[in-house]
Amino acid sequence: MDRITQAAREKLERESALVTFPDGTMSHSAGNGELWTKLPQMTLDRKRVAQRRIVTIDRTDKATFTFDILRTKILKIMRQNNWTSIAITSPTQGCGKTLVSINLAFSFANLKDCRTVLVDLDLRRPQVGNVLGAEKIYSMERFLKGEAAIEESLLRCGENIAVGTNSHPVSYAAELLQGPNTAPILTNLKEKLKPDILLFDLPPMLANDDVIAFLPNVDCVILVVAAETSTLGEVDVCERSLAQETNVLGVVLNKCEHGPEKYGY
Ligand SMILES: Nc1ncnc2c1ncn2[C@@H]1O[C@H](COP(=O)(O)OP(=O)(O)OP(=O)(O)O)[C@@H](O)[C@H]1O
Ligand SMILES: [Mg+2]
Repeated sequence: MDRITQAAREKLERESALVTFPDGTMSHSAGNGELWTKLPQMTLDRKRVAQRRIVTIDRTDKATFTFDILRTKILKIMRQNNWTSIAITSPTQGCGKTLVSINLAFSFANLKDCRTVLVDLDLRRPQVGNVLGAEKIYSMERFLKGEAAIEESLLRCGENIAVGTNSHPVSYAAELLQGPNTAPILTNLKEKLKPDILLFDLPPMLANDDVIAFLPNVDCVILVVAAETSTLGEVDVCERSLAQETNVLGVVLNKCEHGPEKYGY
C-alpha cells in the first residue's frame, strides 16, 4: 500500500469510516459480491421514512447524531470481540425496537465499508417493511423454513445495506425461531452475504418466549426501554434473563426528552 493510501486508510479508521477486523482484513471480503448484487433493490421514499422517524437516511434531523454515537460505541465493542450479530428487543411492546433497529442499521450503512443486514424477526408484529415503505415485502417464515432463498427474501437499499422484511404475522413464532432449519439458514446467510453487522428486530421479551428461543443465534443483544413507560423492575428482569443467554451490549433509553444539545454541536 502506498503512503497516501495508508494515510487515508488510517484517517478513515480513526473516524470509524472503515471497518477493519482484528486479522487486518477489511470488510467486503471477496466471494460475497455476486449474491449481494443479485438482491433486488428497494427504492426508499425519503419523505415517507422521515415521517416515520427514520433519521439516519436523510441525516438532516439532529437525532441522527444520537444514532451515530450509539453506532460508534457498538462498533467498538463488536470489533473488540469479533462479533457481528445483534438482537434488539425490549421488555414490552412499543418501546421503539423497530425504530432503533432501522435507524441503527442505516447509521452503520453510512460507513461505506460496513456491510449491514437488518432482518425483521418480530414475527408477531412485523413492521420493518411497512416503515420503510417496501414495494415488495417477503416472508421471513418461508426464509427460515428454507422455502425461499436469500435473494427471494432480502432487498438491498443502495450499496451496502440489505433488509429482510416480513409480510404477515406468523403463528407459533417461537417454534419457528428455534426450529431445526433456523440456525443453519442464518449461518448460511452470514456465510453468503458476510455482513459486518447483522441486526435482528425481535419482539418484546416479556410477552412470549420468542427472544429467549432466538438468542443462541446472535453474539449479543440490545435492550430498548422507553422512558416514562418501562419500569426499573422490567429492565432488571429483562437484563438478568438476557445475561443468562448471551452478551448484553447495553440498554438504550428511548423516547427520552433530554437530548445531548447542551454539549453544543
Ligand atoms: N424516540 C422516539 N420519539 C418519538 N417517537 C418514537 C420514538 N421511538 C419510537 N417512537 C414511536 O413509537 C411507536 C412505536 O415504535 P416502534 O414501532 O419502533 O416500537 P416497537 O418496540 O418496535 O413496537 P412493537 O413492540 O409493536 O414492535 C412508533 O410510532 C414510533 O414512531
Ligand atoms: Mg417493532
